[in-house]
Amino acid sequence: MKVKKDYIFSVRDKCLKFSDTNVCNAIPYNITLFMLSSFNINSLIDFGSQEGQFANRVMTELGVNHIKCVDIDPTSVNNGRKRFPKIDWECSDMLDYKFQKQYDAITSINWFFYLDKDERIEIYKKVSKIKGVFIITYGDINFHKLHNMSSDSVVDEIKTHMRVLNVVKGIDYETANDCTGRWYTSIACVGVTS
Ligand SMILES: C[S@@+](CC[C@H](N)C(=O)[O-])C[C@H]1O[C@@H](n2cnc3c(N)ncnc32)[C@H](O)[C@@H]1O
Repeated sequence: MKVKKDYIFSVRDKCLKFSDTNVCNAIPYNITLFMLSSFNINSLIDFGSQEGQFANRVMTELGVNHIKCVDIDPTSVNNGRKRFPKIDWECSDMLDYKFQKQYDAITSINWFFYLDKDERIEIYKKVSKIKGVFIITYGDINFHKLHNMSSDSVVDEIKTHMRVLNVVKGIDYETANDCTGRWYTSIACVGVTS
């Protein structure tokens, strides 16, 4: 994961601006929050959480108090720990993460586009051992060709490992981007249980 890590760290500041702006109002986050609200969730683990902006919404708006955030980037984890100290924090690649306990919900929002198919499958297998709801919005459509993915193919992949409860597809145009103009995010929120 070395090359990807370098890339991921190099776009940290840009991503931080997107998340700080978009987490409050962009469609993928609102849909994920809405889907989470339809389950009885007491605990959540959010992978690729960045500084915990979405997790904090889950805590304040849904009243979920047992929240863990995991991100591959140590700077994001350190900043997140200062921003949202009530959240439990860990720096880890989701691919290496070893679950120590069960969570009612697992979220991976807007970063699956970094993963190739083998890595995605590894994650579905890992998550399917946890009894709960798994929600992904798999993010930037510009990467999809690179990783041979489409909303349909990703849903099919997940179906081989989990029961798919709900799929929402769409394109959201996020304008909080000072570098490349518009930022296109394809969304497929998938509620899944093992
Ligand atoms: C585009 S940002 C999205 C942040 C946040 N989920 C949001 O939607 O606002 C992607 C985040 O995923 C993290 N990330 C990328 N690959 C990861 C991996 N394999 N395991 C854990 N975190 C990862 C990055 O460090 C970054 O914080």
